[in-house]
Amino acid sequence: MSTDNKKSRCSRISGFYNMPLEERLKIVKEWAQLSDDEIAMLSNFGNLDRKIAETMIENVVGAMSYPFAVAVNFKINGKDYLIPMVLEEPSVVAAASNAARMLREGEGISAEASGQLMLGQVYMMKVPSPYYASMEILKHKNELLDIANSTNRTLLKVGGGAKDIEVKVIETRRGMAIVINLIVDVVDAMGANTVNTMAEAIAPYLERLVGGEARLRIVSNYAIYRLVRAWVRVAPENIGGREIAEKIVDASAIAEADPFRAVTHNKGILNGIIAVALATAQDHRAIEAGAHAYAARFGIYKPLSRWDLDSNGYLVGFMEIPLQVGIVGGAVKTHPIAQIALKIMGIKTAKELAEIMAAVGLAQNFAALRALVTTGIQSGHMKLHAKNLAIPAGAKGELIEIIASQMIKDGKISFDYAKQLLEKYEKSLN
Ligand code: MEV
Repeated sequence: MSTDNKKSRCSRISGFYNMPLEERLKIVKEWAQLSDDEIAMLSNFGNLDRKIAETMIENVVGAMSYPFAVAVNFKINGKDYLIPMVLEEPSVVAAASNAARMLREGEGISAEASGQLMLGQVYMMKVPSPYYASMEILKHKNELLDIANSTNRTLLKVGGGAKDIEVKVIETRRGMAIVINLIVDVVDAMGANTVNTMAEAIAPYLERLVGGEARLRIVSNYAIYRLVRAWVRVAPENIGGREIAEKIVDASAIAEADPFRAVTHNKGILNGIIAVALATAQDHRAIEAGAHAYAARFGIYKPLSRWDLDSNGYLVGFMEIPLQVGIVGGAVKTHPIAQIALKIMGIKTAKELAEIMAAVGLAQNFAALRALVTTGIQSGHMKLHAKNLAIPAGAKGELIEIIASQMIKDGKISFDYAKQLLEKYEKSLN
């Protein structure tokens, strides 16, 4: 590939995935005219072994670190937890810890996950008499379950496996299709690989049984049989008084009435959930897709949580969300930091992980609503935002804190002002 002349650059690079990492890096370096320092930074794998990185995804040229923080104060199902969180957004961890402190009185936050059931789907098209064929499929349920279970004896040994089958006929713009849902207890796995394998295994049998063609054989990330409920009840004096509690309920009601607000409301919940998902190397795209679909299950997008006052004037929060998470298989097993994250929480089952994540989501939601109805969200952001401006302005070491605090005190938080303060400070030292 010639990269000397930008105009002749071509992204068609045959066998890129087969090249040694150094060679791939060289191509990227030339492509983007990266400096030696930039290449050194990009190819610094930090706490992820390079060999492990290369088994996780293809075409690896480096790794990217995000901060790993620990939220404190959490009491969930009567047990104290430190919560690992990985994310790039300021204030989320502080808000989670602060909310957990307020919500830990009494019973703390409670959460309960249903069974760890995932759906594997086969979509069949061109089946003659699809309604009749559906009955035929149901009649052969046991054979189908046996075929599915023959693909994963280990899962059977731990009490999981394909448990049931649902069949329905849908009308697509390309004709009728039969949907076969394989309901699989994936126990401690996230389960996508397990159910994909099962769906692929039963497809040829289905074709032989009813004719037609199996088009798609894949997990559904709409994990409606893998729900987690989290709830909390807190005295108004623990959260700043009755007025604040009332306003949180107002905020909840607004989210119920307006999808524009509901999306942001749910984003606040996912701030907590996805931060734990990243720390434990979960498939966070699956969690997000499932959560948003569930929020829209009534045909209109709704908040996943609801806040009310009970008859004693206590604030009560409730949330229901599908969570597809695992503690065995995939990146959670291979990424050493994900293993450390699980150890920090003392997690032994996927169910417990799901419950913790839901509790963190509810606490994060509470924190956001409380901030929104009191000081507003920006004041909490400002401290870190100010630091984020002081650093590129040239502040180092303890000067970062000094410059950031001065900007906040003066009510002038900008890059230019950070530079001015820094110059002033440096002059005063000379
Ligand atoms: C920001 O990341 C999240 C919030 O917007 C959530 C919310 O508005 O509820 C603060």
